[in-house]
Amino acid sequence: MGYCAAWDSAIACPCYLAIKRAERVLIQISDPEPIVAESYACGLTTVDQPGVADVAGKIDLLRLTPTGKTFMEITIGNNTVAQQIAAALTEGFDRHYRLFRECSAQAKMRFEVGDWLEVQHAVQNRIQFYDKRVEETVELLHREFSAGTIDDSVWQEAKLLYIGLLIDHKQPELAETFFNSVFCKILHRTYFRNDFIFVRPAISTEFIDSDPAVFHSYYPNEIGFKGAIRRILLDFEWQRPFDDIERDIRNIYKAVKLHFGKWPKAEYNFHIQVLHSAFYRNKGAYIIGKAINGSSELPFALPVLHTATGRLCVDTLLLDVWRISMLFSLSRAYFMVDMEVPSAYVQFLLSIMPGKPRSELYTMLGLGKQGKTMFFRDLIHHLRHSHDQFAIAPGIRGMVMLVFTLPSYPYVFKLIKDVFGATKEVDHATVRRKYQLVKQVDRVGRMADTLEFSNVALPKARFSKTLLDDLYRFAPSLVEDDGDDLIIRHLYIERRMEPLNIYLDQAEQSGLNDQIEKVVLEYGNAIRELAIANIFPGDMLWKNFGVTRYGRVVFYDYDEIEYMTDCNFRKIPPAPYPEMEMSGEAWYSVARNDIFPEEFATFLLTSPRIREAFMKYHADLLDVRFWQETQAAIRQGVVKDFFPYPRTQRFCNVFGPGCENCGDLCKNSV
Ligand SMILES: Nc1ncnc2c1ncn2[C@@H]1O[C@H](COP(=O)(O)OP(=O)(O)OP(=O)(O)O)[C@@H](O)[C@H]1O
Ligand SMILES: [Mg+2]
Repeated sequence: MGYCAAWDSAIACPCYLAIKRAERVLIQISDPEPIVAESYACGLTTVDQPGVADVAGKIDLLRLTPTGKTFMEITIGNNTVAQQIAAALTEGFDRHYRLFRECSAQAKMRFEVGDWLEVQHAVQNRIQFYDKRVEETVELLHREFSAGTIDDSVWQEAKLLYIGLLIDHKQPELAETFFNSVFCKILHRTYFRNDFIFVRPAISTEFIDSDPAVFHSYYPNEIGFKGAIRRILLDFEWQRPFDDIERDIRNIYKAVKLHFGKWPKAEYNFHIQVLHSAFYRNKGAYIIGKAINGSSELPFALPVLHTATGRLCVDTLLLDVWRISMLFSLSRAYFMVDMEVPSAYVQFLLSIMPGKPRSELYTMLGLGKQGKTMFFRDLIHHLRHSHDQFAIAPGIRGMVMLVFTLPSYPYVFKLIKDVFGATKEVDHATVRRKYQLVKQVDRVGRMADTLEFSNVALPKARFSKTLLDDLYRFAPSLVEDDGDDLIIRHLYIERRMEPLNIYLDQAEQSGLNDQIEKVVLEYGNAIRELAIANIFPGDMLWKNFGVTRYGRVVFYDYDEIEYMTDCNFRKIPPAPYPEMEMSGEAWYSVARNDIFPEEFATFLLTSPRIREAFMKYHADLLDVRFWQETQAAIRQGVVKDFFPYPRTQRFCNVFGPGCENCGDLCKNSV
């Protein structure tokens, strides 16, 4: 016998400890309002009136205590099916997280060894772990318990017992999402309510202990600033020596001074907090932390790279929040971080980047399903507190995708149309495969990440009439009317940007030549960087790129992308006689993957101003040699560095002899 005194506390309800151990549990209702019971962490959602509660028929007694507080008594009974389901689900999740963590923890070793191709493989493999574990668990539940025929009450009880098993769990929020993923594969969406799944989180993620601790503190007032930095760098115990750690420490010191204009006064509480695991991506390890001095907090990121001779060096110090946020941009590959308690990492990151949605931070830590869960909770919350309408996204409509947006929410929603425009040769499965491919490759800051959803219910009243008509007309197989909701069977969601064609039109109309030059430079860089990362965009029209709020150009139309190494870049052969060139007919045969870079100019560079800017910076993109040489480098296994910060900020450029002296490191960078 036990009872829950923490009715609406943020702390996990201890009654589940009791549920785990006892057959009969007494739950204290401290607030007579039924609505409070509904938001109760245990997920006991069906409370009709104060004093009368029913959790899947298992609450068999309600009585008043001598103190006048209401108690309800739950008989858990001997329903071993619910217990076994809960246990199977936790085992499935624990196995998932163990493998996920192992793979993430090995990033340190991959960085030390410098096996960059293996770094890419690991990112691709890790993305698939989650779905595999969910499938295994679904299969097990079907096999062992004929999952499709299980009583509603057993599922509800399984949820309660599952919460009990999560009391001391280190990743309870992820485990809840895992429960949802499995459940939603077995039951119809009418069950997707808080009494069956975790529509809202049940267990608090605050103050979960971690071993080793999530971050370490260093005290410059005791060991000096340089001493603290030295210790921070060495505490990562990388199995590779620093090229010149004293130079790196001096550079960091100078960079702080440069940032503030003078050395800031150290306050009594001055200390530096550093996350225990570095953040590994591509060829870099990022040390993330913050300095606390008086009432100010200064976040920082220190990228550590290999030099040309394979030693370690600190490449720069990032101190601006927006620059650090760009490391965590969804248009880059996910980080590998060894986290026992991911929520604590997210909490720390939020404290240094308060503007980043929690969902995006989870996604960037490789926890995409959690990112999706939180994104959707945020969206539903936003819908409850807004009243604008979903409408077709501004710009040129897609031939493959139907794209809509909610003006007050900074994302777009994309459906694959039932029938594509006549010039499109792809089919549905190919489009989905291409979107999946983008998740797995290094997006090098140039391709938007997409969240993929199935069976999304959105309030129909929020759709504009034109949009509803378009949905029924162009994607009837993906939409279903369900009372007040519109169910969208398959949907991609990504960050909204300003389409580059709109951006350029406006800049041209306003005569903003500088802006045109800057964005065309960015556009060419995006194509160049994608190519180096083995991606050929296929459709390079302006309308398929967006401009972010930081002015970066990012690609978002994936149905025609190809690996560079699958393309055949060709020069147009000379016409056998000159009249043929004028005839408009091709005098050479063209295979499916043949690409003629000199043709790009015809459809891209119709405006003189844009042409001028493009030719100034990117004329080589119209030459087959750029493409063939890039292909050759990829085939030789060259993996280039993509710096998620400007080269001008690298220490070698700010304090050192400049990038030219870095040798291979710079030759191989983008
Ligand atoms: N992330 C985004 N932010 C803002 N607008 C977007 C975004 N993604 C798509 N759009 C808008 O929706 C339109 C169609 O999107 P998209 O290019 O992905 O579809 P598509 O069918 O593949 O296009 P196409 O016909 O060029 O192949 C774009 O031209 C743009 O106006
Ligand atoms: Mg497009």
